[in-house]
Amino acid sequence: MKTHPALDAWLDRIICGDALEVLPQLPAESVDLVLTDPPYFLDKLDERWTPERVARRAYKSQTVFHLPPGMKFAPDQGRRMYEWYLRVSQQVYRILKPGGFFFSFGSPRLYHRMVCAMEDAGFHLRDTFLWLYTQSQPKAMSLNHFIERLDLEEEQKQALHAKLAKWKTPQVKSCFEPIAVAQKPPEGTFLENFLKHGVGLFNTAVRVGLNMFPANVLLVEGVEEALDKYFLVPKPTSRERGAGYLHPTAKPLALCEHLIELSTVEGAVVLDPFLGSGTTALAARNRKRHFIGIDLNPEYVEIAQRRLESSSLPLF
Ligand SMILES: C[S@@+](CC[C@H](N)C(=O)[O-])C[C@H]1O[C@@H](n2cnc3c(N)ncnc32)[C@H](O)[C@@H]1O
Repeated sequence: MKTHPALDAWLDRIICGDALEVLPQLPAESVDLVLTDPPYFLDKLDERWTPERVARRAYKSQTVFHLPPGMKFAPDQGRRMYEWYLRVSQQVYRILKPGGFFFSFGSPRLYHRMVCAMEDAGFHLRDTFLWLYTQSQPKAMSLNHFIERLDLEEEQKQALHAKLAKWKTPQVKSCFEPIAVAQKPPEGTFLENFLKHGVGLFNTAVRVGLNMFPANVLLVEGVEEALDKYFLVPKPTSRERGAGYLHPTAKPLALCEHLIELSTVEGAVVLDPFLGSGTTALAARNRKRHFIGIDLNPEYVEIAQRRLESSSLPLF
C-alpha cells in the first residue's frame, strides 16, 4: 500500500509532545487507523499525566491517605474528559482517511463521555468491543477508617464495625475495558471507499479462538473452554517481550495486533497519539504496518524506543 507522500518524515517514529500540539501538524486524510488508549481522566490519570503525579499517592487535604490513582471520584472528571477528547477526536477525524477506523480504549466509568466526544467530532460509532479479563485488584474500601473517626463510644464503634464488616465503598472488581469502534464516514459505498482509500472494511480472515469469526468480545488469557473457543486472541508469546518496559496501563500486544489486522491491510499507517510504552507501535510493526506514536512523557517515549529496539523484527 502506498503511503501519503507528506507522511514520509513521520513514518515509524515516536514523537515526544502534547498530542494536541503534534496532531495538527500531520497531513489531512493520511492515516489508515488510529488505535489508542487515552488518559481516562480518573483523577491524576488525565491529560497532564506524569509518572510523578501518578506515583504521589497522598492527598494531604483529605481524611484518607494513600488513595490509589484512579480512585478519586469527582463529577467534573467526565466533563473535562469530554471537552478534551472532543478536541483530540476532531484532529483524529481530520487526519484519518475517509472510512478509517478510530479504536479508543475507555474506562467503564467515563466511557459514555469519551464516545460522545468521538461522535460529536463526526465519527460513526459502529460498535463497542469488550476486552474481558480476570486479573484485577478489587478497589472497594472498607469503612473501618471512617468508623474510627466517628464521635462515638468505643462500644458503639465496635458494634458498627461488626454490623458493616462486609459493606464497602461501591466498587466491584473491574473485569472489562470497553473499546469504542468509530469510523470516519466513508466516501460512497463501503466498496467504493475501500477501492479508493484501502480502509473501511473488516478482514474476517482474522480469526479468534478455535478459528471463529471475529467477535466483539475479546480475551487474551485463557478463562474457560467455551469462552476461549469463541473469544481468545492468541498470544504472540515470544514477541511479547521487550526488555525493561514498564507502564501502569500497558495494553496486551496480542489485542492491539488483532485490532490492527482486523481493520487494515499490510503497509497501512497506524497512529497512536497516546503511545505509552509503545504497544501499538510494536503491534503495527509486528503486523507489517507503519506506525506513528506520540506521547507527552519523555520517560515513556524512551521505554517505547527501547522496546522497539529490543524487538528482533526489522523496521520497513
Ligand atoms: C493509558 S496510557 C497509554 C498506555 C499504552 N496503551 C501502553 O500500552 O503502554 C496514556 C498515555 O498518554 C500519555 N499522555 C497523557 N496526556 C498526553 C497528551 N496530552 N499528549 C500526549 N500523550 C499524553 C501518558 O503519558 C500515557 O503514557
